[in-house]
Amino acid sequence: MRAVIQTGYGSADVMKLKELGKPTPGDGEVLVRVLAASLAAGEYFGMRGKPFPIRMYIGFPKPKKHFVVGLDCAGIVEAVGPNVSRFQVGDEVYGECRGSCAEYALAKEGGLAPKPANLSFEQAAAVPTSACTALLGLRDHGKVQPGQKVLINGASGGVGPFAVQIAKALGAEVTGVCSTRNVEMVRSIGADYVIDYTKEDFTKGDARYDVIMDNVGSHSLSATRRVLTPNGLHVPSSGHAGMGWVIAASLAGLFVRQQAAPFVAVTTTESLLALNDLIGAGTVAPVIDRTFRLGETAEAFAYLDEGHARGKVVIAV
Ligand SMILES: NC(=O)c1ccc[n+]([C@@H]2O[C@H](COP(=O)([O-])OP(=O)(O)OC[C@H]3O[C@@H](n4cnc5c(N)ncnc54)[C@H](OP(=O)(O)O)[C@@H]3O)[C@@H](O)[C@H]2O)c1
Repeated sequence: MRAVIQTGYGSADVMKLKELGKPTPGDGEVLVRVLAASLAAGEYFGMRGKPFPIRMYIGFPKPKKHFVVGLDCAGIVEAVGPNVSRFQVGDEVYGECRGSCAEYALAKEGGLAPKPANLSFEQAAAVPTSACTALLGLRDHGKVQPGQKVLINGASGGVGPFAVQIAKALGAEVTGVCSTRNVEMVRSIGADYVIDYTKEDFTKGDARYDVIMDNVGSHSLSATRRVLTPNGLHVPSSGHAGMGWVIAASLAGLFVRQQAAPFVAVTTTESLLALNDLIGAGTVAPVIDRTFRLGETAEAFAYLDEGHARGKVVIAV
């Protein structure tokens, strides 16, 4: 099968298309014939090998032999391993695979769900990691309630458009923060207010927010807390700002009423099924920036690495 492997740490030219053997599903695993994959911010952290702990997953001092990149996938079940009960050969699925930038990839049964019927494979592949991050960040960790004021900092990238739509679905009044060229897109997916960060600093405004989901970490914690309500909740989801920022955000809650709720998102069948309901109802839809072919995965990484994708970057396999 054709697969994109990571041959080192650095810029996108470490991504190489190779011929590898087709994997065999083990206990509880599903072999997916991948029709589309998508990239998330975590993958370009992996490409650079920074922050350093990400190498525990990819390999020290260089990536493991034949480390296939990509997590999110949509495709068709090709084979199932022992003790798989929810899926059978031929099912259309989406979710998290190991090495989704390939013609075939293995997934744990618990990381997959039936593909939403109203999405193409390319659209479905854009959903898993970013939408689960938005769902868990807002519903479970942000505990967003109807009528609350929610601000999404970084409303236009991979996670942000899902966060805007999910916060609306939870009944919140939503403010999205993005740059000028994305203002119309963020408004079109349902944000009640949009702040263009190139013209206005949300931490200096008069509005106060019950929940701030921060996908960027572009402001100090004290500036961010200034625009939280007295019992407001900061959901720092940004890997861009580094672990120190996330830990500091949590520790700050020891001294002030406003708490921070950092979290690591995991893609599970339960979360994907909740998303299927929202997607099926037309309440949430993926925003796709660009679609690359499998042989163009290095170009896709380079594009994502610029940090300004508008929605998701998809790989058609
Ligand atoms: N906690 C978890 O488990 C988890 C899971 C997945 C992802 N994440 C984290 O979530 C973060 C966001 O991921 P992503 O995929 O959405 O990243 P992304 O696609 O790189 O998006 C970042 C967005 O931030 C915007 N941006 C840049 N500077 C900004 C600023 N000063 N103010 C407001 N927006 C700004 C960019 O928009 P413009 O082009 O308009 O500048 C871009 O659209 C990453 O740091 C990632 O590590 C966390």
